[in-house]
Amino acid sequence: MEVIEELIKDKDAKKFCNESHSWKNEHLVIAKPYGQIFREGYVANFHQKIQNVTCYEDDVWITSHPKSGTRWTQEIVWCLKNNMDLEKALSTNLNVRIPMLCDDFFANDYVDPQVSSFEFVKNMERPRIVHTHLMYDMLPRDLLEKKIKMIYVIRNPRDVIISYLNHLRILHGYEGDLQTLLDLFLKDLGPHWGPYFKHVLSYWNKKSELPNLLITRYEEMQADLPKVIKRIASFLEVTISDEDVLRLCDHVSFEKMKANPMVNKDESFEERKKAMNNGYAGKFINKGKSGTWKEYLTDEMVQRFEQWEEKWLKDTDLKFVYEV
Ligand code: A3P
Repeated sequence: MEVIEELIKDKDAKKFCNESHSWKNEHLVIAKPYGQIFREGYVANFHQKIQNVTCYEDDVWITSHPKSGTRWTQEIVWCLKNNMDLEKALSTNLNVRIPMLCDDFFANDYVDPQVSSFEFVKNMERPRIVHTHLMYDMLPRDLLEKKIKMIYVIRNPRDVIISYLNHLRILHGYEGDLQTLLDLFLKDLGPHWGPYFKHVLSYWNKKSELPNLLITRYEEMQADLPKVIKRIASFLEVTISDEDVLRLCDHVSFEKMKANPMVNKDESFEERKKAMNNGYAGKFINKGKSGTWKEYLTDEMVQRFEQWEEKWLKDTDLKFVYEV
């Protein structure tokens, strides 16, 4: 199906871009008919290239809406697929072990800036693990046709947007307020890679027809990590001992991930922080909780969330856990 890019003219979308170091003077766009939101120029420059990416039966793809616990899932999957080689995990940046297939706008830290994510993914040793924030219908054709294993991680939208606010501040120099970001989010007009519900439902609605798709939940990882690890291992057809489940739980604990420079992006955003000079002190692996939204959202904001969630959830069997 032909995909075209349409400028989002909404005032909050413009304000959001203007208030972000990375996108000043740019617009957000919507890729029709599927409705995913990107940086201007994405469809013309990258959509077809992404559609044509070659995928292999032994690939594993990890997909998500941003801020859903993607890196947490990635670290688990990498260790499972690599025979629990924690030595390598602790000495090789996650961006290199599991690159993000993206557009060339994206700076894939620790990868040669001259090498696009397309080339990097193409030249990886097999079996590959690749990550992307694309909605289901925007994925490479090969990935869908060959029914390659995919893991999609979901986190409740209230924590997602609070986590996104931190992300935007540390990585994109966002100097705007929560209200603008929330307005955009609840109007389904941003930020990048959204809109949230279209993204989540594009996978959720496929879950019963696609045995190659495993859906995991951030909140469940918090509540019972060994159970989720075992489920992922079984999906990947990897055998793991109870002892290694415990080792892996320890390796991907919040404290260890936060202190691990191979996963926490500290260096990359320290560099960007200098360039943006906004003095904001958050971390990429920041709070790692469910229910952080309660500290940030006013009663009126919560009411707006409830209405928005009700509208999108009414015809689905998707339910969220908002606190663990
Ligand atoms: P917070 O910003 O709420 O702290 P993503 O990788 O999709 O960008 O998601 C980032 C979110 O996952 C961040 O949430 C981060 O702290 C959280 N996260 C990463 N590793 C985690 C872990 N081991 N335990 C709990 N949360 C983790």
